[in-house]
Amino acid sequence: MKLAWATDIHLNFLDPRKRAAFARSVRDTGASALLITGDIAEGPSVVPLLRELHEALGLQIFYVLGNHDYYRSSIGDVRAQMEALCSGSPGLSWLHAAAVTALCESTALVGVDGWADGQYGDYHASPVSLNDYVLIRDLALRRKGSRLRVMRELASESAERLRGALERALPVYPRVLVATHVPPFEEACWHEGKISGPDWLPHFACKATGDVLLGAAEAWPDRRIEVLCGHTHSEGVASPRPNLLVRTGAADYGAPALAGVLEIEA
Ligand SMILES: [Fe+2]
Ligand SMILES: [Fe+2]
Repeated sequence: MKLAWATDIHLNFLDPRKRAAFARSVRDTGASALLITGDIAEGPSVVPLLRELHEALGLQIFYVLGNHDYYRSSIGDVRAQMEALCSGSPGLSWLHAAAVTALCESTALVGVDGWADGQYGDYHASPVSLNDYVLIRDLALRRKGSRLRVMRELASESAERLRGALERALPVYPRVLVATHVPPFEEACWHEGKISGPDWLPHFACKATGDVLLGAAEAWPDRRIEVLCGHTHSEGVASPRPNLLVRTGAADYGAPALAGVLEIEA
């Protein structure tokens, strides 16, 4: 099978004509499913725009959510909407809450949203302030230290889910694809051809999921783990272990495009 992969498509910035053109570009690849690694839309628009994309495509959509998908809402509200959406639409699969998906006999797909957790770079010295810290109810906290605690809780919740999914997938499948929004390593935190610096890393990378991936790669040296992520809108490849590859996908606001089409061979 072919799996089309897109990241950071930010559909809420597009008019219906451009959204239809994006769906056509996915269909034209002949892929049998689409994987989206987050930043699909914003809290109030993510459900209607996922439904619209699914109808236009007529293909299975696997996805995780990115930080923008929680904008103008809260973590709890958006997650409750995802559970309701996916339980009523088998063609939509939010990987964060889904079982291990077999893409073929030898390849499984798992995913978690991930969250920047302030553990790489220098969070306390960083002057960077994202819209996340205004537009996501849980993170709109005046004190930097309180916000960091919430970011770390979100990241470790993703990391624990990822650990469970890998423990179920790796004994069975030689190749495991991991979808996540936030790059799990410094060396995967690409920005315009370079690795993000200490001001941006705390907001752009998730060490909690990275540590789980390193542990899994070391525990299962004969398995191959391939991570697909986004968030920085810049592409690059990193290989922190011989059997662990991380691809960060490119994206442009207002011009969504595929980051790749993966061949999944039995
Ligand atoms: Fe994005
Ligand atoms: Fe993002």
